[in-house]
Amino acid sequence: TDQTVQDELLAAIRTIKDYPKEGILFRDITTLLGNARAFRRAVDALVQPWAGSKVDQIAGIEARGFILGGAVAHQLSAGFVPIRKKGKLPHDTVRIAYSLEYGLDEMEMHKDAIKPGDKVIVVDDLIATGGTAEAACKLLKSMGADIVAACFIVDLPDLGGRRKIEGLDVPVRTLVEFP
Ligand code: PRP
Ligand code: ADE
Repeated sequence: TDQTVQDELLAAIRTIKDYPKEGILFRDITTLLGNARAFRRAVDALVQPWAGSKVDQIAGIEARGFILGGAVAHQLSAGFVPIRKKGKLPHDTVRIAYSLEYGLDEMEMHKDAIKPGDKVIVVDDLIATGGTAEAACKLLKSMGADIVAACFIVDLPDLGGRRKIEGLDVPVRTLVEFP
């Protein structure tokens, strides 16, 4: 990604110390979302490799992946599939437990949201340990998805998430890093 775009995105992300737990530097993208230019640039840069190609579904991870994923789905003329924290989806679901940088949780998606062979891009704001994205990819693969890529605005490379997802044979795209 273009250095000036990277600098603009980095400058638009706010850091909060000790949230949600002591020792965590929380990379807060709400300031980026509230900056019209930075939000547009982030979405445009994320989808750039797939502009004009056929993608069936964008799988957005609750909650911040919903905001970006909706914009990405529109941009690529794809559908949107929500991957939600447990207990929020009304129809039959597949569920998986996972861990992330600051906790444990369970996520689920509707069983009928993906058809075998669907080309799917996973979208979230940030990858840290990769536990969240790994769980999402496993759910999608269990339903027969062909995962084209997993995309994030922010990578925290020291936590090894990218390698974890690449180990599932899923290409990873990120725009900026915080060492
Ligand atoms: C954050 C972030 C990613 C995940 C990354 O979500 O939006 O989904 O953590 O961490 P990992 O790579 O270590 O798994 P969070 O669970 O805080 O949920 P939220 O979007 O609802 O705030
Ligand atoms: N999700 C996991 N780790 C995070 C961090 N350091 N900042 C924002 N979201 C996160």
